[in-house]
Amino acid sequence: MKIRKAVIPAAGLGTRVLPASKAIPKEMLPIVDKPVIQYIVEEAVQAGITDILVITSRGKGAIADHFDRSPELEERLLAGGKQAVYDQIRAIPELANLTFIRQKETKGLGHAVLCAKEFVGDEPFAVLYGDDVIIGEQSATAELCAAYEKHGKGVVGIKEVPHEMISKYSSLKADPIGEREYLVTDMIEKPQTEAEVLSYFSILGRCVLPPEIFGILEHTAPGAGGEIQLTDAMLVLAKNGGMIGVDYTGTRYDMGNKLGMLQAAVEVGLKHPEVGRAFRAYLKEIAKTL
Ligand code: UTP
Repeated sequence: MKIRKAVIPAAGLGTRVLPASKAIPKEMLPIVDKPVIQYIVEEAVQAGITDILVITSRGKGAIADHFDRSPELEERLLAGGKQAVYDQIRAIPELANLTFIRQKETKGLGHAVLCAKEFVGDEPFAVLYGDDVIIGEQSATAELCAAYEKHGKGVVGIKEVPHEMISKYSSLKADPIGEREYLVTDMIEKPQTEAEVLSYFSILGRCVLPPEIFGILEHTAPGAGGEIQLTDAMLVLAKNGGMIGVDYTGTRYDMGNKLGMLQAAVEVGLKHPEVGRAFRAYLKEIAKTL
């Protein structure tokens, strides 16, 4: 079945990037000249997704404003002959059918996804975590949707993480079944002991889920950190016929942490058509002094 809908949970408090995220949603922080959330929406659109629900929270109104028309700004750009920027700005509200709802309390990623139950209805849907930007030749969401259509099972986007970092992520039992594809039959969120680590494969930023996940989430008790964890609900799918893990081809930047923000700025900046060349020359000079 073709995946048409996506959910972007973006209601988190962003405590790891304070004070930047105090009054500005972390999803609106830019990589060079484009906010994080726009990269994510564009990735979903590249996968053929037409309907997107963004889960926001108090103080995150700037996200909806970004995807709205801005007639005064548009007029000013046109009057000033700035056609190229006008075209860019005018295209943003047309990217997809975007809707917004609020998660009233930050009770965890699983709880945020549960807020999308009405929107999703009875069809499979993609989840794109609002602070994970994935940059590559292919849309990671498109790669996951293709795996869902092929196998008819829930799909998680996976990557190996450095061993010392696994306690901050999820850990999966993942057995290879094809090129960049794994069968995932067990998972744990934030393993605290060596014995709990199933592998160094972790779910990073994306999944495609069947609508059955909502019934499971409704019965999922708070887990790690006292939050309702999406991983705990996906564990039920993994144990019950398995999920597919796709080691997507793009590079993932964790825009919810300071180092991730810097890495994304450098790598996207180097490829940027307007400033890339000057930035490269600047970085080479800086590198000599390191
Ligand atoms: P994170 O745990 O990375 O986000 O959640 P956070 O809570 O904002 O981070 P810190 O630890 O305080 O810095 C992963 C994704 O799930 C969303 C976040 O917005 C992020 O995109 N999320 C998390 C929600 O939408 N609601 C929640 O209750 C928790």
